[in-house]
Amino acid sequence: MQQLSAVSVSTEVQVVDCREFDEATISLFLAPGTSPYHETEEFLLDCEMRADEMPRFVRRALLEFQVRSNPDGILLLQGLPIDPGLYYVHTPINAQRSIEKKTFVSERCLAMIGSRLGHLVSYIQEKNGDLFQNLAPVQGQERIQSSGGSKTRLQFHRETVFHPYAPEYLLLFCLRSDHDRVAETTYASITHALPLLSEQHREILFRPLYRTGIDYSFGNEQTVKGNGPVLPVLYGNPRDPFLNYDEDLMEALTPEADAALEALKDAVAQVYRSVKLDTGDLLCIDNRRTVHGRSAFTPRYDGFDRWLQRSFVVRDLGESAGDRYPGERVIRTMFE
Ligand SMILES: [Fe+2]
Repeated sequence: MQQLSAVSVSTEVQVVDCREFDEATISLFLAPGTSPYHETEEFLLDCEMRADEMPRFVRRALLEFQVRSNPDGILLLQGLPIDPGLYYVHTPINAQRSIEKKTFVSERCLAMIGSRLGHLVSYIQEKNGDLFQNLAPVQGQERIQSSGGSKTRLQFHRETVFHPYAPEYLLLFCLRSDHDRVAETTYASITHALPLLSEQHREILFRPLYRTGIDYSFGNEQTVKGNGPVLPVLYGNPRDPFLNYDEDLMEALTPEADAALEALKDAVAQVYRSVKLDTGDLLCIDNRRTVHGRSAFTPRYDGFDRWLQRSFVVRDLGESAGDRYPGERVIRTMFE
């Protein structure tokens, strides 16, 4: 019971403090195992078994987050174990797979934590369908609305809002913060935004009057708006709704729908919060309740820029079965 006190709800964000893990727990993350890139399924099964042995307060926090979320729609695990020698490993160029990183502690953190929320999946269009994706600033993409961008704010979005099998959770593990330690992961939950919306705007946002766009990383390199499906912005329980929102790529189909979307944009701008991720921090985002983005920062392209690893989690693998090869995690839904 004593360990339950390590979970605290602050006014900023619900934090699970992992900095005081005992040696047995740390070794769950550090002990060598199969490769996540070559023996993927075995790696994932092994991580799920290891996760069963994590301290009770960690499993409890993840269970509560999975079952009933929280008002922010995010859970931050702070100070997880990191790969030995990570300090000297270069941030992968062009966010490709790292050829220098020979251990898989960060991948294990993502897979172990993710296994308590659901199942890891990937999308064929992103990073060759890797389950563990390196996010880093990409030279020449500084002002693009994508994970390779840096010098402009990454606008609020639900991850892959246009996709029929969008993840229920998004996991971001920080291997390295930016040089100036200014980059913030921003987030805004519908729980906080909803009270700022009028009844009329809420009612309109529940109607399928919004056309989304396909992400830059899914092939929409001209960032054309309105080439995705038509959706409602809010859905589910009117008093505790889920949220489909992309500040950049979503368009309203009528003037009154546009006014409601603008009201939501204003509400998000008022209620958003941010968290500065440090090495060993893993941020779990409830992708149905909370949109996220990133503040601007300045990359140096010196091999030690900001480096996150990202994974996507779905609660039910069966939903995307028709668009996956049997036994694989890669979702292959095609877009025009
Ligand atoms: Fe994102």
